[in-house]
Order: sequence, then C-alpha cells, then structure tokens
Amino acid sequence: MSKIVHLIKIFIMRLSYVAVLLSGVGVLLSSCSDGKKRYLIGVSQCSEDSWRSKLNSELEQSTYFNEGVSVVMRSADDNIEQQRRQIQELVDMNIDLLIVSPQQTGNLSDAISIAAKKDIPVILFDRKSGADNYTAFMGADNYMIGQMMADYAASQMAGHGNIVEIAGEHKSSPAMERHKGFNDAIRKYPDIHIVGYAEGDWKQPSGEVAMQQILDQLYPVRDGVVQEGPQIDCIFGGNDRMAVGARKALEKFVQVHPEATSLHPSKMLYLGVDALPTPGGGIEKVRDGELTVSAIYPTHGDELMELALNILEGNSYEKETMMETNMVTQANARVLLMQYKEVENQIHYIKRMHARVDTILGQLDTQRIVLFGIIGMTFILSLFTILTVRAYRVKRNLNRELRKKNDELNEEKAKVEHQRDELEEQRDQLLDLTETLKNRNGSSTEGEGAAEASVKESKDKPEVMEENSFVSRFLQYVGDHLSEPDLSVEDIGEGLCLSRVQLYRKIKSMTGKTPVEIIREERLKRSKVLLEDASLSISEVAYKVGFSAPSYFTKCYKDYYGKAPSGKSGRC
Ligand code: FRU
Repeated sequence: MSKIVHLIKIFIMRLSYVAVLLSGVGVLLSSCSDGKKRYLIGVSQCSEDSWRSKLNSELEQSTYFNEGVSVVMRSADDNIEQQRRQIQELVDMNIDLLIVSPQQTGNLSDAISIAAKKDIPVILFDRKSGADNYTAFMGADNYMIGQMMADYAASQMAGHGNIVEIAGEHKSSPAMERHKGFNDAIRKYPDIHIVGYAEGDWKQPSGEVAMQQILDQLYPVRDGVVQEGPQIDCIFGGNDRMAVGARKALEKFVQVHPEATSLHPSKMLYLGVDALPTPGGGIEKVRDGELTVSAIYPTHGDELMELALNILEGNSYEKETMMETNMVTQANARVLLMQYKEVENQIHYIKRMHARVDTILGQLDTQRIVLFGIIGMTFILSLFTILTVRAYRVKRNLNRELRKKNDELNEEKAKVEHQRDELEEQRDQLLDLTETLKNRNGSSTEGEGAAEASVKESKDKPEVMEENSFVSRFLQYVGDHLSEPDLSVEDIGEGLCLSRVQLYRKIKSMTGKTPVEIIREERLKRSKVLLEDASLSISEVAYKVGFSAPSYFTKCYKDYYGKAPSGKSGRC
C-alpha cells in the first residue's frame, strides 16, 4: 500500500515538473503576442491628390503608435462606381472599421449600408454621404469656411466689388457647403456682386477650364476683339488648386487680350481652401503671393485614428467631430511653414525609429524562436535524463536482487553438495558394514563371498605392484572425469568393473581413504594447478574441477590446504 502511495507521489511530482516547464513555455509563447486585438481598418478615398496622400500617410504613421492596428487603403480616382466596388472589396477583406470619404453626396449610401449591415462601423471623413447610416463623422465646417472667406473678401474689397466663384464638384458636400456659406455671407454686402460662377473637379486644370468659361461669358471676343466686361476683384476657388488654375487662366487671357483693361490679375484677390503645408501646397502659394489667402482644411489623420480606435474599443466618442480651421495669409505663412518643417523633422525621426524598432523586433523574433528551440530541447533532454536515470535505478535494483538470489542459491548448492558428499561417505560405510555383517552371519551369497575372498586374498598376499596399478587406474578414471560434478563412486566402480562396495573396500584398504575423499582431494589438487592460470577466476576453477558451488569449493580448499584459495587472476 505504502509503495503505491510512494509511486503516486512520484507521479504527481513528475507531473508538476512537466506542468511548470509547460507553463514556462506558455508564458514565453504568450509574450510573443502583445495580447492586444489586431484591427484592420479599411480606408476608401474618393480620389488621389496631395491633400489625401497627406491624410493617408498620417493614418499610416498613427499605426506606429497603436500596435496591432493596420490600414488598407483604396482610392477611387473620382469615380463613384469604382468607389462602390472598392468598398465592397474592403468589406470582403473582413475589415473591422471603414473610413470613407464619399466622392458624391447621396450616391454611395447603398455601398456604405453593406458595411453597416455587417456590423462594420463606418466613419465618414471630410465628405458627407447624405444618409445617416454611419457611425461617426469627422471633418471641418465647410459652411463656416465659406462664410469666413466671404467676410475676408468683403473686408479686403472695402464692401464693394465683383467676385468670381469656381466651386468644387457640385455633388460633394464640401463644395455645396462652401458655396452656400460664401453666398449667404456675401449677401450681407449689397455692393458686392458675384459676377461669374463655374464648377471644377477640385483639380488645377479644371479650375483653369472653369475660369476660361467665365471669361468667355464676361469678355466675349467678337471679330477678334474682346468686348469689355465687368471688373473682377476677387476669385474664390473651392480649393487652392482650382484658385491657382483660375489665376493661370486669367493671366493667359490678359496676355492674349491686353485690350481687356479692366482685368488686373496682379491686383486681384485669390481665395482658396486647404492650405497644405507640403511643398507646392497652399501655404507656399500664399507665402509667394500666388494666392492671397487660404483656409486651413485640416487632414488630422492622428485624430481620425483615435476616433476609429475609440469606436473599436467601445470607448465613448463624438458622433460629429468638427475640426478647427483658420486663415493663412502672407502674415503667418512663413511661420506656419517653419512649424510644419519642424513637425516634418520629427516625423522623419519617428519613421527612422520605427524602422529601427522593426529591425529589433525582427531580431527578437529570431531570438525567441531560438529560445523556444532551446527550451524544447532542454525539456526533451530532461525527460530523457529522468527516464534514463529511472531505468538505470531499476536495472541496478534488479541486479542487486539477482545477485542476492544467486548468492542464496550458491549457499544452498554448497549445502547440498556438502550433504551429498557426506551421504556418499555414509552410504559407503553402511554398505561396507552390511557386507561385513552378512559375511559374519554366513548368509553371504557366493558371488559376494568370492568378492570378499578376493579382497581378503588381495590382503592376504600383498602384491604391491597390483595394488599400485589398481590405485593408478582409479586415479586415472577420477582424473579423466574430474570436471563432472555428478561423478559418483558407482560410476567409477562400473568403469573399473567393480561393485560400489568392492571399490570402497579395495580403495579404503589400499589407501586408508574413502573413494569420496580421494575424488575430493583430486579435485582440490587439480584446482591448485588451475589457480596458477591468470585467465581463470576462483569460481571458474571450482566449476572446472567439478564443484557446482564455488563457496563449497572454498570451504573444502581451506580444510585441505589450510588457507583460502587465491588465484593469479585476482578475480573471485
Ligand atoms: C481633396 C479635396 C480638397 C478639398 C476636399 C473636399 O481631394 O479636393 O482639396 O478641400 O477634397 O472634399
């Protein structure tokens, strides 16, 4: 019972050892993953331009600070059908959140519903969809931008003059809102008139084309001569690029038609929206005087990412976020550009750091794999060692038990062998005595009498020669069969054609010793010679001379020679 308890204890100990090792590996494995959920954010941009690429890189950079977040971007190149397909594609990629900047209002809500139906939160950015199936909106107040521009123009024009408006894509919410804000505000100034209106597609060439159309209307050319039109004091562009395009068209027109004396491109106001700080962007244009003013239309990819993560993590967030805007004029353009350069340097530094961290993480991954390998090997080796040690212990115990059993067996054998010798002797004596008694009582058979007589005869007339030859024959027989442990007096008698009693009496009378004694002596004498052989151990010598128990051999040897046997081999 106690053995079973002991075995159970050992088993539990081993189990806990394995459990500790496995949990160690588990801890290391879990450290491999940061434990944070991974989010895939899909971004559907309506077009591709410097404003959107700034926004995209800000989104990309904010993933550096939000581990486990990645973005996948698509740009529809101002094609509503393409944007619809791309949204479907992003939804099929199993994105966790969709950021959309719809190319047009009212034309994309069906595609956005696909995401909403799949429980994918949707953030509308910069442009509105016209439906309410979105999770949050983030953008600037375009109506307010329009108003701001109108007030600025009015103040610069001292409350009177003419304005031309080049609006953006008319189906997009920023274009509509900027237009409305501008016109609502201008109405406050009765002496300011909007003398021309055309739409572009947000790109510079479209601004040029739109301005050309307006000039064609206001300054028609008849018979190669420009008809004088109204003076133009200000151009309001839906964004910076279209405002720059409009200026270019105006300058070209004046170059071709110098007779249009009421057009003075260098004296006009050029208003734009976006004020990008990037090279060639609105702020540089204001600094260089190409534009008079530009309203900042912020990108703020970092804030957009923060909103996305708040939604994904289940934190509180604003449904509508209006980003701040401001005017860039020649007075602050340089300062803003300097600040932006500073920020750019920081971004560049962060990018380098990110690359470095990526390399280190790569190295860490390799080291982790090596570490797991080592832990695995150590685990296997430990297991192997435990099993080997266990097997060795079991084997050692078995050997010990086997040796003990063997010793006990040898002891038994020695006893049996000793008893056998004694019994043999006693048997001989008994047989001898029985014969003598029979003879005395005269009841001996003729054959036996003859044998007796022959013994007597041989005693009566001592013929030394004959005796010697009989003893020699006896010894010869014994010598030839010495290695047989079962060699008996009967066997020898048979070999010498004598009965056991006859042999016993003859040998006893001739040598004074019993045959059993002589056999033992012969075995011991031979053993003495064999012990000189360095290749034989004591046990081997004992077996070679017919002892079946080495311990009995040692006892007999000691009795006979007065000291224990010691071989040249030094082995027992
Ligand atoms: C960029 C852009 C900006 C403009 C905004 C309006 O694609 O055209 O220039 O301010 O989109 O959505």
